[in-house]
Amino acid sequence: MDQFTPESSSPEDFRAALGRYATGVTVVTTVGNRGPVGITANSFTSLSLAPPLVLWCPARSSARFPAFETARHYAIHVLAADQLELCRRFARAAADFDGLPTEETPEGLPLLPGCLARFDCAAYAVHEGGDHAILVGRVLRASLRDGEPLLFWGGRYGDFLHHG
Ligand SMILES: Cc1cc2nc3c(=O)[nH]c(=O)nc-3n(C[C@H](O)[C@H](O)[C@H](O)COP(=O)(O)O)c2cc1C
Repeated sequence: MDQFTPESSSPEDFRAALGRYATGVTVVTTVGNRGPVGITANSFTSLSLAPPLVLWCPARSSARFPAFETARHYAIHVLAADQLELCRRFARAAADFDGLPTEETPEGLPLLPGCLARFDCAAYAVHEGGDHAILVGRVLRASLRDGEPLLFWGGRYGDFLHHG
C-alpha cells in the first residue's frame, strides 16, 4: 500500500484514497432566497435512530452553501441506478429544475421523482468540518421503494451487477 501524509502531499492523492470508499449518491434540495436549489452529494450518512438523524456535508466554497447552511428544511433524495442524469444535473447547476414535476413537501421543499428513498429533514445542527460544514437533519418524514441504487466509487458511477 502507498502511504503519504495528506497535509504535505497533493490533494489528488488524498482524494484518490477517499475515493476507494464506495458510496451511494444523493441530491439534496431546499428553497433559497432565489427559489429552489439542489446539490448532488455523496457525503450523506445515517447518524441516529432515536432521535432520527442523518447528516451530509456541503463545501463552504460552493455557491450553494449559504442556501443550505441557513435552510430550515431540506429533502435528501437517494438516487436510483437510472438517475445518473439527475446526479449530473445537480452537480452542474443548482437551480436547474427544468422539466421536473413541481411537487413539494408541506414545508415547500422541491421533490425529485423516481428516487429510491427520501428523507425530509428539519435542520437540527450545523457543525464545523474544515472546508465543509456538517449538517445534521432531523428526519420528519422518510419514504422508500424497491430498486437498484446509483453507486459512486473512484470517481466512477455504477450499479450492483452481482448480488452477494
Ligand atoms: C458524486 C458527487 C458527489 C458530490 N458530493 C458532494 C458533497 O457531499 N458535498 C458538496 O459540497 N459537494 C458535492 N459534490 C459537488 C456538487 O454536487 C457540485 O458539483 C458543486 O457544489 C458545484 O459547485 P457550486 O456549488 O459552486 O456551483 C458532489 C459531486 C458529485 C458528482
